[in-house]
Amino acid sequence: MSEFRSRILGVGAYVPPRVVTNHDLAQLMETTHEWIVERSGIEERRWVDPGEGGAEMAAKACAEAMEKAGLAAADIDMLVYATLSPDVQFPGTGVFVQRLLGLRDIPCYDIRQQCTGFIYGLAMADAFVRTGQYKNILVIGSEVHSTGLDVSTRGRDVTVLFGDGAGAVVVGRSPDASHRILSTHLHADGREAEILWAESPASRNHPRITAADMAAGKHYPSMVGKKVFKHAVTRMPMVLMEGMVINDLKLEDIDMVIPHQANLRINQMVAKLIGLPEHKMHNNIQKYGNTTAASIPICMHEAIALGKIQPGHTVALIAFGAGLTWASAFLRY
Ligand code: UT7
Repeated sequence: MSEFRSRILGVGAYVPPRVVTNHDLAQLMETTHEWIVERSGIEERRWVDPGEGGAEMAAKACAEAMEKAGLAAADIDMLVYATLSPDVQFPGTGVFVQRLLGLRDIPCYDIRQQCTGFIYGLAMADAFVRTGQYKNILVIGSEVHSTGLDVSTRGRDVTVLFGDGAGAVVVGRSPDASHRILSTHLHADGREAEILWAESPASRNHPRITAADMAAGKHYPSMVGKKVFKHAVTRMPMVLMEGMVINDLKLEDIDMVIPHQANLRINQMVAKLIGLPEHKMHNNIQKYGNTTAASIPICMHEAIALGKIQPGHTVALIAFGAGLTWASAFLRY
């Protein structure tokens, strides 16, 4: 193994301009602003307009991340695109981002770990930089939920939670111990994969989707909310503690925790369970809803802009989501 270590060189984010408030949703389905805020903390989210997809949003987030890193298209050696909402069935969306950015014929991965996808991607990038094989790697989380949600009352438990957006980082070499990815820990447990999924279209079915499937709403995400909630408030503290033990860190050594933005109540409960002071966790789900693979880089980008994350800070990223999957990344920013 080489001596290379990795760091985050630049962070970018992009959300579409169209704001959809809880009041807007209440025009489409039986729900209220109060119910959504009380259960999830969400006040509004962004939805794309026709013509804008995950790749376009991702390219904007990547352009910012590359600019912050001081890198040009020719400097990028690999791309990892995390999403649960690929632009098309195939090919993977990463190649469309590659094309939009004018990158060389570098490897482009698409990965499918939902809300944990960004951290899975970060772990891949960290590993590739450490081997010395690639130097500068784009890790992207990008989601278009709005075109795949049931906006009738039937889908209200899920639909009110999700929003569109993209976030990206450039991971590169770090010669300096005060800026580096310290650890990544990835987990999955498929035993309850169906408690949060979109069943159709499915290549295991002939045909992949039928009119009856669509009438039953099988092409929309479905979730057993209470079960997912319980897993999230158990797994996220566990993965945070795991990273702290491995890195020999105490709570007071951590400057900022950026959790996946699935539900403000989940994140508040996680902070309470581990005794993390409120000012050491940044949340912005109130404005963007759950942007799944994009939520951590979007939230991190905002925390940096607000000065809550500064160079040299010890930052913990934690996520939980469909699969079930959960993960952490600890870093010195
Ligand atoms: O990023 C992926 C991970 N996802 C998550 O982590 C989400 C985890 N789960 C949750 O955040 C919560 O379970 C929800 C916010 C989704 C739901 O909260 P809940 O307290 O578990 O509510 P519930 O599903 O038990 O529903 C309570 C009531 C039901 O009515 P009845 O049966 O009590 O009459 C629902 O039909 O609220 C009703 N309801 C709504 N009412 C107004 C469900 N959705 C809505 C809605 N507006 N949007």
